[in-house]
Amino acid sequence: MDFKSKIKTIEWVDTYSKMVDQTVVPYEYKFVNITSGEEMFNAIRNMIVRGAPAIGIAGAHGVILFAQELEKENLSREVFVKELIKKAEYMKTSRPTAVNLMWAVDKQIEVIKNSKSDVKGIIEELKQNAIKLENEDIEINKKIGEYGAEVVPKGAAILTHCNAGALATVGYGTALGVVRSAFAKDNTIKVFADETRPRQQGARITTFELAMDGIPVTLITDGMCSYFMKKGMIDMVVVGADRIAANGDTANKIGTYTVAIAAKYHNIPFYIAAPLSTIDISIKSGDEIPIEERSHEEVTHINGKRICAEGINIINPGFDVTPHELITGIITEKGILRPDYNKSIAEAFSKDNI
Ligand code: MRU
Repeated sequence: MDFKSKIKTIEWVDTYSKMVDQTVVPYEYKFVNITSGEEMFNAIRNMIVRGAPAIGIAGAHGVILFAQELEKENLSREVFVKELIKKAEYMKTSRPTAVNLMWAVDKQIEVIKNSKSDVKGIIEELKQNAIKLENEDIEINKKIGEYGAEVVPKGAAILTHCNAGALATVGYGTALGVVRSAFAKDNTIKVFADETRPRQQGARITTFELAMDGIPVTLITDGMCSYFMKKGMIDMVVVGADRIAANGDTANKIGTYTVAIAAKYHNIPFYIAAPLSTIDISIKSGDEIPIEERSHEEVTHINGKRICAEGINIINPGFDVTPHELITGIITEKGILRPDYNKSIAEAFSKDNI
């Protein structure tokens, strides 16, 4: 059964990309129109759009925006294609960790390379492909939700970290897709949302979208999870992913690793919910996943106000890698992958030529 979520995070509209401005949620819920390639690069980098699958779609839209700009230069078809591929490669560098960005832009590069059309035709094909990726994203999330709901115990309290919801995807969400599908079957389940410092995606975005959909949510700060696990108040953990290596090691928002260790200690199942497009089979282990280092201001300031002394050292990695040994299962659109992940991931890919 489907749970009707009201949120559509990002969509292509005729000549521009329309997206929820996530920098102002939950104070405002407003849409912005992104009309140039460079604007899209900055929207991804500055997290107007964020969450692995959502930035993938944003990257795909960015390629169309660059194509529309190049069309105005009246280049030969050959030069247009060459320049557009360069711009697409540049779009991939807007953020380093979530592999969905590279995956979706590569899907657009394939369209460009395989096209037999003129410049106008290529742009039209890029638009059709982006819309297809948008629709598929929601369908995939609903499948992840269905598979995930099967492992949610009756009346479960589910802990999640960061936001892997509708606002991290085109709609419905991955980890929160599991929550939505489980809630449709059993409205006694509830969510514990980690605040997720430094950018507070859990506090700002996860609580916002769950409250909007009427799903009970309790906000806790990041350090509280072991306390509630010890008290028996958490039944399972479900989080999203930004990149999963071939052995199952998973990069997700900083702090996820700590939650996974606490879950293991308390014998609580720890699941990753992610589409196969988040799995990077080209890398053997999590050691190879590039970790984004973000602005120090995210740590030193909250809502524009400095919260610490001047002149101190700051480090701000945006993600950490949870070792595969701590992961109970990876919930994908093809079912739940279980250890040995080298084997189950390879099998999932051999059945699917994504
Ligand atoms: O820095 P963000 O907000 O883009 O990080 C997002 C996360 O880490 C999410 O948990 C992950 O992308 C999964 S989204 C379905």
